[in-house]
Amino acid sequence: MDRTTVISPADIEKQLAFCRAVARLTAQWPDRPLAFVDTYGCQQNEADSERIRGCLEQMGFGFTQDEEQARIVVINTCAIREHAEQRVFGNVGALVHVKRRHPEQLICLCGCMVQQPHAAQKLRESYRHVDLVFGPHALWKFPEMVHTLLTQRGRIFQTPDEAGSIAEGLPVVRQDSVKAWVSIMYGCNNFCSYCIVPYVRGRERSRRPEDILAEVRQLVEEGYKDITLLGQNVNSYGKDLAEPMDFSTLLEEVNAIPGDFLIRFMTSHPKDATQKLFETMARCQKVAPVLHLPFQAGNDRILKVMNRRHTRAEYLEKIKALKALIPDIVLTSDIIVGFPGETTEEFEDTLKVLEEVRFDALFTFIYSPRQGTPAAKMGDPMPREEKLANFNRLTALQDAISEEKHAAYVGKTLRCLIDGLSDDIRYGLTARTPGNRLVRVAGDPSALGQFRQVKITGANKWSLFGELV
Ligand code: SAH
Ligand code: SF4
Ligand code: F3S
Repeated sequence: MDRTTVISPADIEKQLAFCRAVARLTAQWPDRPLAFVDTYGCQQNEADSERIRGCLEQMGFGFTQDEEQARIVVINTCAIREHAEQRVFGNVGALVHVKRRHPEQLICLCGCMVQQPHAAQKLRESYRHVDLVFGPHALWKFPEMVHTLLTQRGRIFQTPDEAGSIAEGLPVVRQDSVKAWVSIMYGCNNFCSYCIVPYVRGRERSRRPEDILAEVRQLVEEGYKDITLLGQNVNSYGKDLAEPMDFSTLLEEVNAIPGDFLIRFMTSHPKDATQKLFETMARCQKVAPVLHLPFQAGNDRILKVMNRRHTRAEYLEKIKALKALIPDIVLTSDIIVGFPGETTEEFEDTLKVLEEVRFDALFTFIYSPRQGTPAAKMGDPMPREEKLANFNRLTALQDAISEEKHAAYVGKTLRCLIDGLSDDIRYGLTARTPGNRLVRVAGDPSALGQFRQVKITGANKWSLFGELV
């Protein structure tokens, strides 16, 4: 396996110097400039936006939620489904009017969508008010690109097609004070036939364990209580490291960091989820009893054309093994309805998996063709109405299961993390059960960030309700 490219500390230092150079420029402006950062897509993108905010802060920018006030607008895009792209193009199109009122405004687009050549071309030709376009592989050069925009005229397009690298040491501004994301690896090697991610995010590459552990240690010291280790396929963590290491060992080491905090991780691929992982989860006290294990479809023929490289029976075996070790495990999954050629009879195998596993929650999607993926070239004869009808059957079944599973919590007292505040007059707090189910809790804001015993008093299909004990 090829070794991962790590950006040298000298190259990162150069970017930090660009931050300082921009800060010297912005310090001379009459008002402190503001930045508007908008993020689409998954947690990986949220984590990237936290680094973009970190760089912007070092460059002297404050933050605003109002694009009208912003000297710089950054839109971090997603390409996973067509809908995500349409929303971005709609919102970016609307910015032309804002820019007309504020001609000095810089508009930047980054993330997965712009890494696709057809999207970059469309932005180049038809969205001339966009100043900067950069893909995930170029993110670490963001300070340099902003410096160039502010000191020279013209537009910048940086969407190199490469396997990707690892950049350590960029500044971070986090959005939350209780929960934090930590990327442990980037990219994906799986090439599921419907998925764009491997094309836009490059090959799998792992951060060094010492860098990950140092980041988690610092987060725990800062008071973070809920740490999610991120990667498209965390179960193949570490294969590319100079000293290869597996994900279970990493979990073990994160678990050994002193402090009262929870460890979560996502996403796991069923083909790489091992008995060793399940045993590690069961043994490590800080690892939350929850697993997000996408199975996508319940029919073996469909799984095969999806290139998932596991069967339904193998999936169910793994779930059984996990439940034997952790009986109260909370299980969630992703499902695609209407993959090219999937018949309604084949779709019904997906329903059977739901009934057998009884997931706590699901993320369900209607198949969306992605340009350049093998599935986009497959025949797709099923009319949209039939896909929609199947989709509705799926969500109705899951709603009933979620409601039943939630009802079983009523009367229990659980150690929950108070993780947010809410405007609800009766339930001023939000909390998470150990398995990450949402609880709306009566109580005052001083409890934020604490682990508290919560008595569950009610439930519906979306959430639980409770009171502090
Ligand atoms: N790496 C993760 C998932 C990343 S994408 C994994 O393998 O599980 C999140 C989810 O989006 C996928 O699990 C899949 O259910 C869905 N998805 C991906 N491509 C899609 C497409 N072309 N159409 C519809 N849903 C898709
Ligand atoms: Fe996409 Fe499959 Fe990789 Fe997940 S594992 S990101 S679904 S290619
Ligand atoms: Fe979207 Fe890229 Fe994540 S395509 S789902 S933002 S990896």
